[in-house]
Parts: sequence; C-alpha cells; structure tokens
Amino acid sequence: MEIGFGIIGCGLIASFHAQAIAKSIGGTLVAVSDLSLERAEELASRYHAKAFNDYKQLLAQPEVDVVCICTPSGLHAQLVIEAAQHGKHVVVEKPLAITMEEGRAAVAACKGNNVKLAVISQLRFAPALQQAKAALEQQKLGKPLLGDAYMKYYRSQDYYDQGGWRGTWKMDGGGALMNQGIHGIDLLLWLMGPVTEVWGQAATLARQIEVEDTAVAAVRYASGAMGVIEGTTSVYPGYNRRLELHGDQGTIVLEEEQIIKWDLAGEEDKVLLEDEGVSSGARDPGAISSEGHRRQIQDMVAAIREDREPLVTGIDGLRAIQLILAIYQSSREGRPIQIKEEDLHV
Ligand SMILES: NC(=O)c1ccc[n+]([C@@H]2O[C@H](COP(=O)([O-])OP(=O)(O)OC[C@H]3O[C@@H](n4cnc5c(N)ncnc54)[C@H](O)[C@@H]3O)[C@@H](O)[C@H]2O)c1
Repeated sequence: MEIGFGIIGCGLIASFHAQAIAKSIGGTLVAVSDLSLERAEELASRYHAKAFNDYKQLLAQPEVDVVCICTPSGLHAQLVIEAAQHGKHVVVEKPLAITMEEGRAAVAACKGNNVKLAVISQLRFAPALQQAKAALEQQKLGKPLLGDAYMKYYRSQDYYDQGGWRGTWKMDGGGALMNQGIHGIDLLLWLMGPVTEVWGQAATLARQIEVEDTAVAAVRYASGAMGVIEGTTSVYPGYNRRLELHGDQGTIVLEEEQIIKWDLAGEEDKVLLEDEGVSSGARDPGAISSEGHRRQIQDMVAAIREDREPLVTGIDGLRAIQLILAIYQSSREGRPIQIKEEDLHV
C-alpha cells in the first residue's frame, strides 16, 4: 500500500516536498492546500493531487496518511497539533516551532495521538554528514575539543520584503539563526552532542527587519568541548556553510555537503565520498536540490513501515530551537545561559 502525503502551504519549499514525495519509493502526493487556491491548484495539477484552500479539508481526507507542513514558521506548531489530532503522521519544516512551549505541545500531541513526527533537517542525510557522524561515534577524532558552525549567507532586502512573514518575530520567530542557521545548529548538536551553556550576541545590522540578521555565540558542549556559531544573512556575496570538528586525534571540516578535510590520525589516505546531491543555498534559498528532502521523506516512509522513530525526531527539533532561543536570551540579557535537558521533557 502506498503511503498518502498531503502538503499544507504551497510556497517555495513545498515544491521540494512534492518532488521528494514523487521520487520516493512507497509515497504518493494526494492533496495540497494553500490559502491561495490558485497556488494550491498549480502545485496539485503537476502531481494529479487534490487542491484545497482550507487545510482542514486536507486533514479530513482519509487517504492522507502523512502531512508535510510547509507554511510560515509561526504556524508550524499549531498545524502539527491539528494534524496529530486527526491521526496523521507529520513532517514539519524547520523550525518545529518558534517557542519552547509551542514546540513541547507539538511533540506531546504527536506522542499522545501515537503518530510519528519528523522535523526537516535534510542535510543530516547527506553521505558526507553520515560519514562524519560515524567517525565521531567511533571516537575517531579522539577527545572532542571544538565544534564550530559558520553560516555566512546573503539574503537581499527583497527576499525579506517578498514574503510578508519573513524577518518578523511572529511568523519567522528569528532571523539568521532561527530561519537559515538552524540547519548548521541541528548538525552541530547531532554531531557534537548537547550544549550545556551558551553566550551569544545577536543584532540587526544591515536589513530592515525585526529579527537578527547577524549573530555569534560561544558554546560549551556536555562533553566538555567548546565551539563557535556564526550566522548571518547579510554578508555579500554569501558563502558556503562550514562545519569544523576537532578532537585531539583528528579534524573533519565540511563545506556544505562535502568533506574538505579528513585529517584523522592513521587515516591519511582515506578516499572521501562525493555527494551527487550537493547544492548550496548560501546566496539563493531556491538553489538547494530536492535530494535531501527525498532522503528524509524516504526515512519517514520507512519509519512508518518499520514502526520506528524517524532520524530527525521532534525532540531534535526542540533541541535546535532551545539553543537558538538561548542565544537570543543571552544577547538580550548580556550573560551566559544554561541549557537544561529537563526543558525538553514533554
Ligand atoms: N528546509 C529548507 O531548506 C527550507 C528552505 C526554505 C524554507 N523552509 C521553511 O519552509 C517554510 C515555508 O517557507 P517558504 O519559503 O516556502 O515560504 P513561502 O512564503 O514561499 O510559502 C508559504 C506558503 O504557505 C501558505 N500559507 C500560509 N498560511 C497558510 C495556511 N493557514 N494554510 C495553508 N497555507 C498557508 C502561503 O500562502 C504560502 O504560499 C518556513 O518555515 C521555512 O523555514 C525550509
């Protein structure tokens, strides 16, 4: 039996979900919805799916097993909760929510209704990231010392002005970190483990927006390692994301989804994987490929069939927003913020 997918919100990222579902084995797009019926019909017509302008109609379709939530971020949590209450599994775009309270409520609703929840972090599925993760798990870097993420992107004022929700606290929930930098932050947390303390600065330096366009933070991991996070949407011309992972026995550096340094003691001759799916959204958010989303949709199909957790869980989604919100709080209050595991309990 094919697993039926529905998409709520038919903007930029929805077309990546639609392509990903079409390319998946075992998944079919059956319905889409957008406030603009025209936009919904345009996407639906390409995939022979039903179109609705009210998402409640989509949730009422029995052939929809999984709902992909692709609306502005401020609506994510509420839609996750409603989808779960209708017994639908959920794939929600990042960020899971824009507050911890809403995020916990979304995770609790999925748990309570016994449906699966995956939070999009498509880069985790790239072969190079999987390879780096395996190296860290096998302690090939030795004692972990530093884990850094540099996300120096470029988004024009036009980018913010086009979608009325972008750059607002209410619907974007933050800027360079909550919208763009969250990808690198999720990867750092996955690779390096939880953060226990953060000291950050965030400011709006270049764009006419409510939220930050530039932020930096120093983090301390539970392992004792330290790290730096830098995120911006305003440096011209925009650069590829870099992750730098160091231990006392080795270093791995990734640029986007490519390993550019693999300097592990005793592994100097290792041949690195090339990833056909590599693409960069450093300058243009539409320039990413749908391959990462395909891998993550395929993981959801497998999670349902095998009755297991998806690779990126609701708690993972919560952990990423917890760190970002702590950086904002640190910047506002001018002090380091402790990050507590118990804040993730639902
Ligand atoms: N994973 C990634 O790489 C990636 C890339 C871009 C965007 N995103 C995320 O995807 C989400 C959407 O971003 P976008 O750039 O596609 O935005 P967008 O503005 O292009 O599209 C959002 C769509 O949602 C629709 N919408 C709003 N409220 C709705 C409702 N109640 N019911 C149905 N439809 C509704 C809007 O009409 C619009 O068509 C954001 O949360 C963003 O963070 C993720």
